[in-house]
Amino acid sequence: MGFYSTHIAPHVLDAVCSFRSLTAQRQRIVPAAHGTVVEIGIGTGLNLVHYDPARVERLIGVNPPDGLQRLADRRAGAVGFPVDILAESAEAMSLPDAIADTVVVTYTLCSIPDVEAAIAEMRRILKPDGRLLFCEHGRSDDPFVALWQDRLTPVWRPMAGGCHLNRNPAELLVAGGFTLDRHEAFTPKGVPSLVGFHHLGSACPTPLHPHGLGAAVVRRP
Ligand SMILES: C[S@@+](CC[C@H](N)C(=O)[O-])C[C@H]1O[C@@H](n2cnc3c(N)ncnc32)[C@H](O)[C@@H]1O
Repeated sequence: MGFYSTHIAPHVLDAVCSFRSLTAQRQRIVPAAHGTVVEIGIGTGLNLVHYDPARVERLIGVNPPDGLQRLADRRAGAVGFPVDILAESAEAMSLPDAIADTVVVTYTLCSIPDVEAAIAEMRRILKPDGRLLFCEHGRSDDPFVALWQDRLTPVWRPMAGGCHLNRNPAELLVAGGFTLDRHEAFTPKGVPSLVGFHHLGSACPTPLHPHGLGAAVVRRP
């Protein structure tokens, strides 16, 4: 990795992800995490301060080796529970099945290259009665904004670390075998909806059909 990716880019990302409007959303979901927590795309560790140390037994962060870990390690040293960070991609995690009581993912589904594979992995590592907490930006529910998100994503993505403006995290989670038990879709005040339309909520693994198919409701005549 060059000088920019090691010494500059992590601080730029950290500053952008620390905006007050984003911190306010982190505070709405992260404190609900409990037990063994796996945070996907932990980045510079900005969520660490929002976990409730009385509820978290241990936290495992997952992030590809991209120069962000130094800042995350520094923050991890200041929390009241053990933190391990795995330098690997969410699409192929070395974690065993059903290890996590809670999976947390914030502002990350937009930039994972194979997001469907990563969601399948999140489902695999989550206990059947576990919960996934998410807070993501993505596709707007305003068709005009969504149209511009589709148009701009090919230009935006190479400049913004692979970030897609037009992914719909809620739809991706449902397609990947999760049932949403909470989903808020909104633009926080003061944020342009093109880049800041939010999907926030929680989801649990949809129980598998005994023959391996998803538990979709089949209506018979
Ligand atoms: C915008 S940053 C958000 C960081 C952090 N989640 C936060 O809320 O501040 C996107 C993160 O996704 C991570 N990421 C990108 N591709 C990934 C992958 N394949 N698996 C896991 N994380 C990935 C990046 O390394 C980066 O940390």
